[in-house]
Amino acid sequence: MSGGVLLQGAEFGHGVVAGFGGAGWEIFFLHEVDVGQRGGAGDEIAPEGGEMVAGLKAAAISGRVAGLPLCFFQRGGLSPGSRSLPTGRALPINQFPLTTNPFRLYNISAPQIGRDPMSLAVAHGLPAYDIHMDKFVIRGGNPLLGTIRVSGAKNAALPAMAAALLTDEPVILENIPQVRDIETTRKLLAAMGAEVELGYGRAQHRTTISCRNLTSPEASYELVKTMRASTLVLGPLVARCGRARVSLPGGCAIGGRPIDLHIKGLELLGATITQDHGYVEAVAKRLHGGEILFDKITVTGTEDLLMAATLAEGETVMLNCAREPEVADLADLLNKMGGRIEGAGTSTIRVKGVTKLHGARHRIIPDRIEAATFIIAGALTGGDLNVAGCDPHHLGALLEKLNEVGVKTARTGDSVRVMGDNPPKAADMVTEEYPGFPTDVQAQYMALATQADGTSIITENIFENRFMHAQELVRMGANIKIEGRRALVRGQTPLSAAAVLASDLRASASLVLAALVADGETIIDRVYHIDRGYEHIEEKLRGVGAQIRRIGEILPKKAAAPAPRG
Ligand code: EPZ
Repeated sequence: MSGGVLLQGAEFGHGVVAGFGGAGWEIFFLHEVDVGQRGGAGDEIAPEGGEMVAGLKAAAISGRVAGLPLCFFQRGGLSPGSRSLPTGRALPINQFPLTTNPFRLYNISAPQIGRDPMSLAVAHGLPAYDIHMDKFVIRGGNPLLGTIRVSGAKNAALPAMAAALLTDEPVILENIPQVRDIETTRKLLAAMGAEVELGYGRAQHRTTISCRNLTSPEASYELVKTMRASTLVLGPLVARCGRARVSLPGGCAIGGRPIDLHIKGLELLGATITQDHGYVEAVAKRLHGGEILFDKITVTGTEDLLMAATLAEGETVMLNCAREPEVADLADLLNKMGGRIEGAGTSTIRVKGVTKLHGARHRIIPDRIEAATFIIAGALTGGDLNVAGCDPHHLGALLEKLNEVGVKTARTGDSVRVMGDNPPKAADMVTEEYPGFPTDVQAQYMALATQADGTSIITENIFENRFMHAQELVRMGANIKIEGRRALVRGQTPLSAAAVLASDLRASASLVLAALVADGETIIDRVYHIDRGYEHIEEKLRGVGAQIRRIGEILPKKAAAPAPRG
């Protein structure tokens, strides 16, 4: 095994990829990874998961990692007829247990080989590297033309997965986006004892979650720190198990983001809450109904308490609720599970508690924020783009704003066509709770405002620190001044390519948009943020004419990328 290396990807895309390379016998382990349909040594890169594998291949070709063949393992367990690897041993590639399709090698996960690839490498004295597919290279100037499809809504899928905790029967969710936050939620639920099957590949986008045995109703700091929405398990866990222990999330790149309203609401429903060592613990024999008046509108707070109230004894009335479509979608699922909820999507929600919920099948709504990002991309690049598979009803505030700035759009049943023939005029914008202009589209709108005729004032009302992208846009030539919660954007400044840094999910999206119209080749670093919530964004944008590619970097094992937050 001498002369080989171990490559271990931090998590990018949908899982961990690890590979062995060594003289004579070489093998990759792709652990829980979305690898598309096919692959193989010297084969064309599979369309899905290809970006990641392309990085490995490029590394191999570039000679930095000599002689590594590529093999692909599909997620989903070993196929009938294939064998798992003997514990702790790597096999020569030609002895690998092939199935009927030579390009379909099946998932060999770390537990199956008994030891993780890293410890195997150490055992064999191999040097180890991390591969970070963490930069986008974008050459600006192309108008986006054609049709781009919207995936399922991340922010609807996350609470829906948490809702599965409320029943011991399987919950089947369709139209789940293949993004990293979903994978984090899978891990979160699995750590509690849930069985979570994620269907990868273009055709599937489905997850089946079975929470028959919840052995440990806890959400650890390790997971919560990478995804704040993990706090969504608090309500369902205490309702179902009578106890929940969830790490406090702490601040993040866009603001302080406390969860005091979740806690206050649960207390009102009868839970006893204690906080120590950075964890919040909620205990209740059975929650009871009550009247919850939110001091401030909170999306995940509404969702968390809505889930808790479904299993409470008696009626709960929730006032000043978030009216986001994702809340209504969650209520829709809960009602399919046997819940009795009325008014979701309005500011007053009534819940009649039931003693038990059952399994259900539900299709997640389209992602309105992803749709909005693409619509703005079409307008900004002067393209003619059909954003398909969205719900135009959820995009009212954006479409009105685009009308005001003179961007033409046309809605049909489930798509929005955007025609960027005319340069936009400047218009002020204020973020608000739904149905107002979404904070999650503020950064993308700012990219558009840099090219508008005149000065736009953008006011961020929801989060106190959500202008991190502004400084990066300035590095590309934008003229933006921040005054507290307001950003003054002087338009029609030509943008030029620069090396920029993504700071959170939507900030990354705005940098991608700016790069699409910048002169030259922009390099965006830390795009793991974008992978949290945009499914295969580079492939989608490439499909409508953008020049965008992901590049990887191979670093010695210890130089780990900073953990994502948000
Ligand atoms: C949800 O976050 C979304 N996340 C966010 O999406 C989105 O930006 C946000 O709503 C606003 O629309 C998910 O749905 C998973 P909030 P959430 O509670 O629920 C304050 C993205 O990019 N607040 O509605 O955490 C809070 O500080 C993201 O996909 C309290 O004071 O947001 C903020 O100022 C990031 N106490 C305001 O309310 C609380 O207990 C609204 O936050 C809770 C919230």
